[in-house]
Amino acid sequence: MKKNILVTGGAGFIGSNFIRCAFKQPGFKGKIVNLDKLTYAGNPENLAGIQKKYRGRYVFAKGDICDYKTVLALMKKHDISVVAHFAAESHVDRSIFGPKDFIETNINGTFTLLEAARTFWAGRKDVRFHHVSTDEVYGSLGAAGKFKETTPYDPRSPYSASKASSDHLVRAYGHTYGLPVTISNCSNNYGPFHFPEKLIPLVILNALGGKPLPVYGDGLQVRDWLYVEDHCSAIWRIISRGRAGATYNVGGNCEMKNIDVVKGICGALEALAPSAKNPALGGRKYSDLITYVKDRPGHDRRYAIDFSRIKKELGWSPSVDFKTGLRRTVAWYLANEAWVENVKTGAYRSWLKKNYK
Ligand code: NAD
Ligand code: TYD
Repeated sequence: MKKNILVTGGAGFIGSNFIRCAFKQPGFKGKIVNLDKLTYAGNPENLAGIQKKYRGRYVFAKGDICDYKTVLALMKKHDISVVAHFAAESHVDRSIFGPKDFIETNINGTFTLLEAARTFWAGRKDVRFHHVSTDEVYGSLGAAGKFKETTPYDPRSPYSASKASSDHLVRAYGHTYGLPVTISNCSNNYGPFHFPEKLIPLVILNALGGKPLPVYGDGLQVRDWLYVEDHCSAIWRIISRGRAGATYNVGGNCEMKNIDVVKGICGALEALAPSAKNPALGGRKYSDLITYVKDRPGHDRRYAIDFSRIKKELGWSPSVDFKTGLRRTVAWYLANEAWVENVKTGAYRSWLKKNYK
């Protein structure tokens, strides 16, 4: 594939993993343009070395997806024929305390990208607009059943409502203007470069620092965990071979209660960095730090994904089981002290100021 791809939000967790994954695809010879506003969650260190490794094929553009002129100019300048849209405000807790940015970026930003694509592509069919979305648009499950692509939307947090809105816009541009769109609705990701406000990296780093491991409510909420590289390979397949107009659910076939995830992290840490040798623990075990705290308002109880469509149509299934993925993730955080330190202290922000005035 020689097409040039505009990745939005490529300095974030999944976007940066996707850029690495795309460059590794044997048939991909095109260019990747990464448009990222570098919010608190965007960190160019997530892509350290990529420019050098793929000289002439990687372009970073600091900018806002809500800025129509910027988006259109980039599409024209780099002859973009695929948009892989990751940029979003992505944290449910932040959406509860301050929903405004979620409306702006997730809804207006997606609308702006769609408008730019519609204008620039002017009816072309050899192009693709892929929207990276979440299973949270389907709401919350009871004890049984899984989300299918046909499950009615029932978003329950400002985050999921904003993602549901953007999904609707993407689909509407497919129906109304014939824009070749695809959507993936994926379950919870984990892996390297995950910003430590989300459960798994937060618990790893708090545990290493001897701090409480906060478990919301009773800890019996269920999420379906997927290793980030598996998500990226699913997106690559959808972009390359997915049907225009289709939605694909992507999941890990890995339902876990939050409390079991936290205990799993403690177990992996005991194996790789024993608490007995960690002075921050002062004789305690990592699991002694587990602390039940006040529940998240409107906390969805259970998510689970039926990914039979992408399996049947595109031959995709997750390849990394949770135990392996979690060990790899814990090992990554242990091995990347400088990244962790910079993220924790915000040191990368001064680097940003210097490099992106
Ligand atoms: P993230 O918060 O780690 O990264 C988001 C990136 O978008 C950051 O680099 C940020 O700087 C950038 N960004 C934010 N607002 C922007 C704007 N207005 N213009 C340009 N760039 C902007 O998020 P993530 O976890 O990597 O999620 C990526 C996408 O995947 C999101 O759309 C999210 O809804 C979706 N998703 C995430 C998960 C998950 O478990 N993390 C699961 C399913 C779907
Ligand atoms: P999170 O990583 O924020 O992802 P999402 O809300 O998109 O599923 O949270 C995963 C689960 O872990 C969710 O049920 C909320 C819970 N959680 C905690 O129990 N403690 C925490 O400190 C965090 C951040 C999340």
